[in-house]
Amino acid sequence: MRHLLSAGDLSRDEATLVLDTAAELAQVGDRSVKKLPTLRGRTVVNLFYEDSTRTRTSFELAAKRLSADVINFSAKGSSVSKGESLKDTALTLQAMGADAVVIRHSASGAAHRLANWVDGSVLNAGDGTHEHPTQALLDAYTMRDRLGRLDGLRVAVVGDILHSRVARSNVLLLTTLGAHVTLVAPPTLLPVSVHTWPCEVSYDLDEVLPKSDVVMMLRVQAERMRDSFFPSVREYSRNYGLDGERLNRMPAEAIVMHPGPMVRGMEISAEVADSPRCTVTEQVANGVSLRMAVLYLLLGGS
Ligand code: CP
Repeated sequence: MRHLLSAGDLSRDEATLVLDTAAELAQVGDRSVKKLPTLRGRTVVNLFYEDSTRTRTSFELAAKRLSADVINFSAKGSSVSKGESLKDTALTLQAMGADAVVIRHSASGAAHRLANWVDGSVLNAGDGTHEHPTQALLDAYTMRDRLGRLDGLRVAVVGDILHSRVARSNVLLLTTLGAHVTLVAPPTLLPVSVHTWPCEVSYDLDEVLPKSDVVMMLRVQAERMRDSFFPSVREYSRNYGLDGERLNRMPAEAIVMHPGPMVRGMEISAEVADSPRCTVTEQVANGVSLRMAVLYLLLGGS
């Protein structure tokens, strides 16, 4: 495969290869010199048109650990403010010798468009409300690492599914890997096409919690909302927030995940966020090894 645009493009064998490669590369993080010469002489461009803390820094760290040269491009402060298009920006960066472009953009489909314009590999780091495949891969990696398997795992994804690229990528990838996904949200925060997704849907968090091995909480993406999708934050939190009381109703071994950024007190209480059953910081750490694996496999490192 040349690009990573959608989690749905990965077969079960391909996804498993990425997870296994990430597990091998995780050992580099335990060394005193956290570096491999694998991508020496290659150039990775991080092209971010939307804000990011975790994805941008972990792609940068992953590329540097593999000895690639890294260019960090942020739309803010660039010639995008003068009207330069995505295509011209991408061709400019390609002319400087980019072997891979990691793109985050507010437009769904931006990564696919870019893949038609540049010669190198394109890695989708989040396009609008569409997909975030490396997030789903690092989430699957974290589940397998914590719980020992993915096949048959019962995963609840809770919150603003409508605006979530993380939810879509996780449904596609986890189903490929044999897990059963249930989306939990108020009807207003579910896409109209959700019945075509390979998963179940529930409006009742309390009913789903005792039957879940993994509960993945999602942030309400207020920045993508033009309308009001629920009466109040308090009511949303009461129906769909995860607090200590609800955590106690989950099976004893079940874990809580969150892709970040978290809004404490809304979708997740501080008590749950700080609990040892919450994997949010593990997900961030695993994201570095996972993105090393993806860069290594796409760029044919040796
Ligand atoms: N999970 C995630 O994509 O976080 P960032 O927006 O900080 O990259």
